[in-house]
This record gives sequence, structure tokens and C-alpha cells, in this order.
Amino acid sequence: MKQTIVSGMRPTGKLHLGHYLGVIQNWVQLQDEYDCYFFAADWHALTTKYDKTEELRQNTIDVIMDWLSCGIDPDKSTIYVQSLVPEIAELNIYLGMITPQNWVERDPTLKDMAKILKTKEGQGQQINYGLMGYPVLMSADIMMFNADYIPVGSDQVAHIEITRDIARRFNNLYGEEFFKESKPLLNNCALICGLDGNKMGKSFHNDIKISDTAEDTSKKVMTAITDRSRLRKDDLGHPDECEVAFKYWQIFGSEDEIATVRCECEKGQRGCAQCKRQLGDKINSKFEKIRERRKYYEEHPEIVEKIIEEGSAKARKKAQEILSHVRKLIRMY
Ligand code: TRP
Ligand code: SF4
Repeated sequence: MKQTIVSGMRPTGKLHLGHYLGVIQNWVQLQDEYDCYFFAADWHALTTKYDKTEELRQNTIDVIMDWLSCGIDPDKSTIYVQSLVPEIAELNIYLGMITPQNWVERDPTLKDMAKILKTKEGQGQQINYGLMGYPVLMSADIMMFNADYIPVGSDQVAHIEITRDIARRFNNLYGEEFFKESKPLLNNCALICGLDGNKMGKSFHNDIKISDTAEDTSKKVMTAITDRSRLRKDDLGHPDECEVAFKYWQIFGSEDEIATVRCECEKGQRGCAQCKRQLGDKINSKFEKIRERRKYYEEHPEIVEKIIEEGSAKARKKAQEILSHVRKLIRMY
């Protein structure tokens, strides 16, 4: 029997290279070894964006199209939409009943989210009951499939600590070692920064999307920050102070290419414009296949719909098995 993996993403729209390198690439590799459940967390999106639902459906489709294009395979993994598996909502109710309020109030990731909402960027939004339930709903996502591992970024680990606490409490209360204590699976790949050197993010307008065209990608790469002390192309360069472009080379180039770029840059034999043009080509060749596949799915949205429908039905079947045992343990009617 394979061990189980569950992971999700809030559907915030088209994904960028940070998502690809940090999360999706990792998921693709896990598919062969584990029984994987990957889902678009549309209820979690509602915890803060309940008033902006016009794009929720398209964002959900876009996220899943990106996954499929990158190699998440519906024949290997179960791909679904959270809200199409209502069993998760029922489990969320039971878990909410056994979760002490101070466990969620202590959650540092939630505290950060609340802080952002109160600032200008969050337009002074208030903190709703649903947002306080974020880690409980996430626990329901995870426990719904009794996951062994959760591949996530380090910012999600605090939530998963709560999941483990809730699972332990459930088992103690209802007298059976039923739920596993799921563990986070961190991947140690280097984070890719945005074109301006800050964290890559949609709202910072410094990202390259998986679905960007080759032309757009090349144009964007030309704006990447380089060694700021370099004015002319034969000035001696300092790759280690080339804030973005050289870092991208280190992610996308082969060892030989990186060595060549470093050497030519240091000797003043390589202009930054030429260097970034090459870098754009390099990135484009890496994403060529992925973008071709994405175009195919865009032209055949009915295929994506079907994958979502079938994946969600499959997820529900498994969820119903677990839920019926949970109801028995709690002695529901
Ligand atoms: N909170 C996660 C994020 O923002 C998304 C998520 C929701 C999730 N439920 C999950 C991740 C369950 C892993 C497991 O990235
Ligand atoms: Fe950076 Fe390339 Fe310019 Fe050197 S030549 S500073 S590595 S962009």
C-alpha cells in the first residue's frame, strides 16, 4: 500500500515560476511513489476573498490547467476542487467542535494573515469567523484522506502542527488511533526571487507566469536587476552582486553555462543585455513543452472540466468511507 499525500493551493489565478519551482515540480515527482490528492482550495480562498468571487471559477480552472501542463497526471493523482467534496465541510464541523479556541488564536501564520488584512493592502478588512477556522478547515482537508505527508512551503508548517494536535485529540476523545499525525514534507529548493529582487508574487508585478508567452517572458527577463555597479558592457562584472539575473542563471543554467556566464561577466566580456537575452531563451526552452500543453488545455476546456469532475468524484468516494467511520466513532445518528 502506498502512503498518502495531500496538498492544495488557493486558486489565486495563473501560477508563476515560484509556484513551479517551489511546489509543482515537487508534486510531479511524488506522484509515482505516493497516492496523491491535489486540490484547489476554493473555500480557503473565500476566507479572505469572499467579496471577490467573480474570478474564483476561472482562477480554479487556471490553477488546475497549470498543474496539468506541468505534468500532474490525472491517471496517477487525484485532482479535485475542495468545494466539490462537501464531506470536507462536515469533517470541518466535527474538528471545529474539538479544537480549543486558543489553538487557532496562537497560529503564527494566521496571525500574519490577519495583520496583512488590517493594513492598507488588505483594505482594513475585518477578521471573520471563517478565517479563524483556516487551520481547522486545512486539518479537515488533510484528515479527510488520512494523509501521511503534506508537501508545503515552510509558511504552512504551523498550520500542520495544529492538524497533528487535532488528530491526536480526536483519537483520544473517541477512543481509536484512527487519524494519522500527518507530517509536513518540506522541499529544499532555492526560492526564486521576483524580477525586482523581492519575493516573487502576482501582486508585486514582478513575476513570470508559467503561462506567459515566450515573447513576454523575454521582455520581462530584460527588466531583471543585474550588477548595479556595472555601467558599460566591458566593465568588469560581479555575478555574486548581480541580484536577479545571475541567480536565475544558477537556477536554470547547467553547471557549464553558469561557469561561462560567471567567467565572461567577471572579465567584462559579456554585456548584461546579451546575457539576459540568453537567459530569456534558456527559460523559454525549459517551459516550451509545458506551454504547448497549456495551450492544448486552453483550447479544450472540456477536458479540464472532465478531469475535475472525475477527480472530485473519486475524492468523494474515499472521503465518504472515512467520514462514515468518523460518524460512527463520534456516535452521530
Ligand atoms: N493553506 C495552503 C496555502 O495557502 C493551501 C491549503 C489549504 C493546503 N488546505 C491545505 C495545503 C491542505 C496543504 C494541505 O498554500
Ligand atoms: Fe549579471 Fe549577466 Fe550582467 Fe553579469 S553579465 S552582471 S551575470 S546580467
